[in-house]
Amino acid sequence: MKQHQHSMKRAGFTSGFGVLAATLGSAVGLGNIWKFPYLTGANGGAGFLLIYLLATLLVGLPVMIVEITLGRQAKANPISALQTLAHKGRMWWLIGVAGMLAAFMILSFYSEVVGWVFAYVAKAIGGTILSSDRHVTEAAFGALISDPLQSLLWQWGVLIFIGGILLMGVTKGIEALTKKLMPLLFVLLLLLCAVSLSLEKAGDGLAFLFHPDFSKITASVVLTAMGLAFFKLSIGMGTMMTYGSYFRDDQDIPLTTLRVMSADLCVSMLAGIAIFPAVFTFGFAPAAGPALVFITIPAVFSQIPMGQLLMVVFFILAAVAATGAMLSLMEVPVLIFHERFGFSRPKATLLTIALLAIMGSCCALSNSTLADFKLFGLTMFDLFDVVSSNILLPAGGIAVALFVGWDWGIEKFSRALSNNGQLNNEGIARAVFFLLRYVSPLLILIVMLKGLKLF
Ligand code: PFF
Repeated sequence: MKQHQHSMKRAGFTSGFGVLAATLGSAVGLGNIWKFPYLTGANGGAGFLLIYLLATLLVGLPVMIVEITLGRQAKANPISALQTLAHKGRMWWLIGVAGMLAAFMILSFYSEVVGWVFAYVAKAIGGTILSSDRHVTEAAFGALISDPLQSLLWQWGVLIFIGGILLMGVTKGIEALTKKLMPLLFVLLLLLCAVSLSLEKAGDGLAFLFHPDFSKITASVVLTAMGLAFFKLSIGMGTMMTYGSYFRDDQDIPLTTLRVMSADLCVSMLAGIAIFPAVFTFGFAPAAGPALVFITIPAVFSQIPMGQLLMVVFFILAAVAATGAMLSLMEVPVLIFHERFGFSRPKATLLTIALLAIMGSCCALSNSTLADFKLFGLTMFDLFDVVSSNILLPAGGIAVALFVGWDWGIEKFSRALSNNGQLNNEGIARAVFFLLRYVSPLLILIVMLKGLKLF
């Protein structure tokens, strides 16, 4: 009864579409634009896509289903959820603590890239980056990221902006916003694809993206694909558990995750189709890394009528995609500080912003003041990216799979997944449970150890 009263008071997503929009809003983000296309192109095109798809089906989807189910069942933040659901005295709640650490790490570098996107909205409006000359757009981007003050201000601005939306609450902030913005994102991406495909060397770009080159598939590329699947689907760190706690009781979880995963993949493909034809037409190096987006896109728009307006809209939409992901990332520590440690929601949000302003500045300054400060040969920006995607998220995935497979058990899992018997999801529950118990953890572990060259 106490639990029930608690869940009545708790905010949540109010409609089926709201659930889908918010969850997709978390999955879709800069990863689709800034990571996925260049990782695919650089690591063997269609061959990489195949590995990514396998990683998603065997590991990503089962972990996503489980995280959401656990969240919804406990209706609590990841730490409390695991404390409630696990057998007494077992330490599974540490998964929630590790998740919070991963959230802070990802947010530290992610908020910096989002800062660049927001800066580009302003630059696009000002017209300063409207040039088909790569030297001009390259110089503009270089000037932005190597300026410590600008980098910090944009990053902090983003943190305050996202914090402001979170203060509006789960329903009126997160759900209401993502419901409006997700459909718009698709429309604009399609428009951009049409433009890019009409360019001269579109065929070369598509060949680069889709032509399979299996010789590039090494153990570390498989790890990259798996890490990408975790990063893309926002799993392995409690985000989906947090959002799961806002899911309606009548929501079909496997169906929702399948929809989110397919729509997310679709956005990634569209982003690739929008970027690579342009890359080849304008003679850029195809796998030039994160900066590609900020140099190529302005060059594409400068070639078309009403290019400046379209560019403004594009960067606003990139900001929108990033906003959905940032909201879900920041919601993890905010909810933990609020629910687990008793801070009011505004105080929890302020604390999160303050901690991130400190930790994130290591990343914001890694192209300027701290460029020479490296650990394991990586700047803080790259280190946080690699450690979170390649170690923390997969490790979080293993831990969640082990918890459900070996502690929580098939009965509770199956009942929760079938909405207490209202849905016929038992077959899916058994299949997912089998993967979680025997396949996913081992697969993740082997790929992790091989990819990190530990054996
Ligand atoms: N899925 C987001 C993207 O692809 O950009 C990034 C992300 C969001 C990762 C939320 C992890 C997370 F918890």
